Amino acid sequence: MDVLQYPAEIQTCVRERRRSCQSIGLVPTMGALHDGHLSLVAAARAECDVVITTIFVNPTQFGPDEDFEQYPRRLEIDLELCQSAGTDLVFAPTVGDMYFSDSNTTVHVSGVSQVLEGASRPSHFDGVTTVVAKLFNITQPDRAYFGQKDYQQQLVIRRMVRDLNWPLEVVTCPIVREPDGLAVSSRNRFLSSREREQALILNRTLVRARNRAVDGQSSPVQIQAEMSRQLLFADGVELDYSLVVDPETLQPAGDDHQTAVALVAARVGRTRLIDNQILTFAG
Ligand code: PAJ
Repeated sequence: MDVLQYPAEIQTCVRERRRSCQSIGLVPTMGALHDGHLSLVAAARAECDVVITTIFVNPTQFGPDEDFEQYPRRLEIDLELCQSAGTDLVFAPTVGDMYFSDSNTTVHVSGVSQVLEGASRPSHFDGVTTVVAKLFNITQPDRAYFGQKDYQQQLVIRRMVRDLNWPLEVVTCPIVREPDGLAVSSRNRFLSSREREQALILNRTLVRARNRAVDGQSSPVQIQAEMSRQLLFADGVELDYSLVVDPETLQPAGDDHQTAVALVAARVGRTRLIDNQILTFAG
């Protein structure tokens, strides 16, 4: 496994691989790798000749009051995990390697990036789409792997790829969970054991919502109301949003919807967590 720091190095490397007709799979990450990230690497490994994992804590997607400084960084361990999961090339630039101090260009996806996470975290998705666009240009992937865990993120990136005619496929991989249902996240390590227990209500609420949809007794609007009731009064949980929306537009799902996505965001202690479930309505 090669570890490269500079965009120009990886571009040269990729050019050689592409010349010999090897397909390239990209797994963008911010490091502190866990089983969720490694499931993306495994999917890329199964489908591509060359797997590139990028490790870069991207400052432009963090708001001024967010945890950029505290975000866990542990490159040595990450490199070992990348190696054992079958990564061929790791791209791990510094902020100075990625951004010109006088850069003028931002990639902005309107609409789907402005609701939910975008409403709570203004400019977050501009940071994500701009860095992902740069990573696409640097690594020239045939396929890029993202997690359903960040449902809105993968949707925003799909929209960017479609709108800009990027010649690559976005692959969305299922959410990896702890045995008790908590979605695996780099931020889970900030939870105390009590908060960790309180956080389980997020997935429990989503599972209940999924079951209600399958039962065919409740509409999206009713399920959303029930989710809010459960989460608003949950011990230790400060709800940001809990919504049932159209999977493509992220607008409220009406009663004629056959599939929808239930998404939740909440603070447990000082840690902000997100989770979601696809709902399939019977009948
Ligand atoms: P990061 O939070 O490190 O996540 C990297 C990828 O791992 C994302 O596609 C995310 O959805 C996926 N992932 C995280 N937890 C997961 C889980 N439990 N199951 C499945 N996949 C999971 O998302 C980012 O980084 C950044 O915004 C990035 C795209 C790298 C741009 O900076």
